[in-house]
Amino acid sequence: MKRSEINAYITEAIELFNSISFKLPLFAYWTPEDWATKGVEADEIRDNALGWDITDYAEGRYSEIGLLLFTIRNGNYHRREIYPKGYAEKIMIVKENQICPMHYHWKKREDIINRGGGNLVLELYEADAEEGLSENDFHISVDGIKKDCRSGETVILVPGESICLEPFIYHKFYGEPGKGSVIVGEVSGVNDDENDNRFLKPLKRFPKIIEDEEPLHYLCNEYPSAK
Ligand SMILES: [Fe+2]
Repeated sequence: MKRSEINAYITEAIELFNSISFKLPLFAYWTPEDWATKGVEADEIRDNALGWDITDYAEGRYSEIGLLLFTIRNGNYHRREIYPKGYAEKIMIVKENQICPMHYHWKKREDIINRGGGNLVLELYEADAEEGLSENDFHISVDGIKKDCRSGETVILVPGESICLEPFIYHKFYGEPGKGSVIVGEVSGVNDDENDNRFLKPLKRFPKIIEDEEPLHYLCNEYPSAK
């Protein structure tokens, strides 16, 4: 992805979050110049990869397969003695027909929440013993209501609705066409992108970036070390 695209998507995301009065923490707006002044007091942001995260899964087709995320809070399985927090929260932008590809988590249980905008479509399967798509039916919980779910069933969340995705439940999601971009929340156990994402088709989690202009804001894996 080009840095100019990343800058534009972050600017657009801020407008969308503002459109539903979802307020980001102040570090969302820190510039590279601001980061140059930050010491060890900001280590929790660096160490737990809080902040902006945009990916096209290194496929080069962001509008078809991609996701914009802002991690608001997170724990850290590898440094529990410093960061014992057992939970995480994200806010994301999912565009119409923009796919977050089929994956599950071994550890993370996540509630995916439609915070506003369009409708969110999720396609769901249970994982089988070989980490493929099972044909078994299973149960889901939509805002506390237990429901039967057929293998491969599509669930649509309208603004305000949420679904609890248990570990080992494969999920893929995208914005319903014709309904606009969706502002999607995630409340979950600790997020560990390096070790807890099983993609059905192997994919890289982070994009390759072409530096064609200066970053407005660093991505969560780009922060400079403390001064
Ligand atoms: Fe997930």
